[in-house]
Amino acid sequence: MSEPTKKKIAVLVSGTGTNLQAIIDAIKSGSLNNTEISIVISNKKDAYALKRAEAEGIKNVFVNPKDFSNNLDFDKKLIEIINNYGVDLVVLAGYTKILTKVFVDSFPNKIINIHPALLPDFGGKGMYGSKVHEAVLKSGIKESGCTVHFVTNEVDNGPIIFQTKVPILEGDTVDSLSKRILKEEHKSLVEGIKKCFSLHVI
Ligand code: GRF
Repeated sequence: MSEPTKKKIAVLVSGTGTNLQAIIDAIKSGSLNNTEISIVISNKKDAYALKRAEAEGIKNVFVNPKDFSNNLDFDKKLIEIINNYGVDLVVLAGYTKILTKVFVDSFPNKIINIHPALLPDFGGKGMYGSKVHEAVLKSGIKESGCTVHFVTNEVDNGPIIFQTKVPILEGDTVDSLSKRILKEEHKSLVEGIKKCFSLHVI
């Protein structure tokens, strides 16, 4: 019987790449089977995520926003690169650049993102990284978490695929809370990718 064709993903990164590493580790362990990372793209030259990809022999490229006169031309370059690989899914893993409508519309229902809070709360324009955890701690709620969702043209507002709740502990700081949530992001992102593929959504 022939091997089922592998599901191919493109991963967009901007930072340390711990979410990318979680996908890499899940593929290597067989937990995310029948999947391959075709390309890793970063808008930041110094993103450690690129080194993680390189270490695994995964194709990776830095695309410099400064080489383009506007976000649309930058995103068109990314679309061109991604389309060279015919991916089934585009994963935003710590990617900090807002996507243009042209990019989102180029991959309908094929782009997912991991957000470090329980959307639809604590999401939207400007709500990323430590800003999210600051707002959550300020709100006084007792739990936060992370959300894997489809990306639409409304920031952090696409259909939710997978969510994990994380308790907020007495004396939590942005640092302690973000670290606890980041651990759950790694598991949630892998589960979210599995769910996309298993639902034959992709
Ligand atoms: C993390 O803060 C995470 O909450 C968000 O992106 C940031 C960097 O993640 N999704 P990574 O280590 O670059 O994957």
